[in-house]
Amino acid sequence: MASYGYIIVGSGIAGLYAALLAREHGRVLILTKGSIEESNTRWAQGGIAAAIGEGDSPELHLQDTLRAGAGLVDEDAARVLVDNAADAIADLVRFGVPFDTADGEMLLGREGAHSVNRVIHAGGDATGAHIEFSLSQLARLSGVTILEYVQVLDLVVEDGAVVGLKALDTRSNRVESFRGTQTILASGGLGQLYRVSTNPTVATGDGVAIAYRAGAEVSDMEFVQFHPTALRLPGVPVFLISEAVRGEGGVLRNAEGESFMARYHEMEDLAPRDIVARAILNELSEANGDHVYLDVTHLDAARVRARFPQIYKHCMDNGLDITASAIPVSPAAHYMMGGVRTTTWGETTLPGLYACGECANTGVHGANRLASNSLLETVVFARRAVQRSLEAERSPARPWPGSVAIPPAEGGAEGPHPSLSGLQELMWRDVGIVRSGESLSRARGVLAAWQGMVEPSDRPSQELANLLLCARLVTEAALARQESRGAHFRTDYPEPADSWRHRLVFRR
Ligand code: SIN
Repeated sequence: MASYGYIIVGSGIAGLYAALLAREHGRVLILTKGSIEESNTRWAQGGIAAAIGEGDSPELHLQDTLRAGAGLVDEDAARVLVDNAADAIADLVRFGVPFDTADGEMLLGREGAHSVNRVIHAGGDATGAHIEFSLSQLARLSGVTILEYVQVLDLVVEDGAVVGLKALDTRSNRVESFRGTQTILASGGLGQLYRVSTNPTVATGDGVAIAYRAGAEVSDMEFVQFHPTALRLPGVPVFLISEAVRGEGGVLRNAEGESFMARYHEMEDLAPRDIVARAILNELSEANGDHVYLDVTHLDAARVRARFPQIYKHCMDNGLDITASAIPVSPAAHYMMGGVRTTTWGETTLPGLYACGECANTGVHGANRLASNSLLETVVFARRAVQRSLEAERSPARPWPGSVAIPPAEGGAEGPHPSLSGLQELMWRDVGIVRSGESLSRARGVLAAWQGMVEPSDRPSQELANLLLCARLVTEAALARQESRGAHFRTDYPEPADSWRHRLVFRR
């Protein structure tokens, strides 16, 4: 059986960056179920938040992070995040990421809920593509073993510690085992749970599902972030229209042409994401429509083209000149705040298992992530995970008092057979931007029945099984949390409650 110092699951920024650091300390294997370039990172537009501008400070960044997170941010973890931001950017520059500059200074954009401009970007709105390209090129040249089209099935646990994993080579259909001193989950999010999503098809919650099955703790799963502005053109796949567009002066308008956000929040178009997404939903339900508009026609056209080349081109290719006509948009599932619970050193509750990036739950996002904190979180905590793996004294996350398992399946086996599209429709309708006890209970019954019907045998069925497990975790957490907070909104409990100012943790 092949044996490595580090096995890394996933090839987005989290996996590649961790690999580039770890290769200095041992043999590194990256397993990725698609090609190395297929990841959520590649589609990130906004950028990376870092308090490096004049008039900004880590303290101000911390305050914005805490406010956006709606009372659930782990302040210690968030302090680690903001204090390490400048070093994280310097590291990415060292690895060749070409951030946008003018006169030798980094250009700083603005996004929702930030009180100052602090979002560093590359290629205008192509930040993720540049990061992915720079890091994957380096990884390919650096002696890291990269196995593409290999889907991890399960972790191997011996005497309570993770010692490797079992994986399916999806091209030969053979199952192989790999042994690793350290295993790092960096497998991204679960956006494929929802019918409307900005995420690529690889975002199927694999890391969370694998970790939960192995006995690791998983937390904050009720908090799924919906991005307010995804392109909504008939017949055109969902495409993100960055919040940075509003940061440059773009204005949301309803069907009457009214700029409505002042009615919902003092920060207007740059209010926290959950608030903007629900405001749009409200406008849509009042007008019985399926999109509002994001208007940049009042901005300088040359500036719009230069700052948002990807968005401009994508819309133009689909017959829409955004410098002349407003962009039809509506919300889409975008980011999972929850994940595999870790310490501020990336350690999970299982010795030998680390998690970083979207599949991890460090606690920095609370109930609602501040825009562009996610790429930063990935770099900061991936570095700390590798650092920790080198220390003789390690301390896995301590078990959370009061963690619970998903209740046993109670649903009947009646009804349609589970399918990806059926699951996405169910989650969009019943466990989406707005939920209720009734919709969540209905979803619970269907999901429980479906879970018992899937026999994983290949990549699609394994992904469906993982998504179903994640769907159960999201739904159970949302049912348990009898309040509204951040991205979790229930019509039957529309206000936040102090008694719910704590995290919900699941363990098998
Ligand atoms: C965006 O560009 O609007 C997305 C950035 C993020 O999700 O942090």
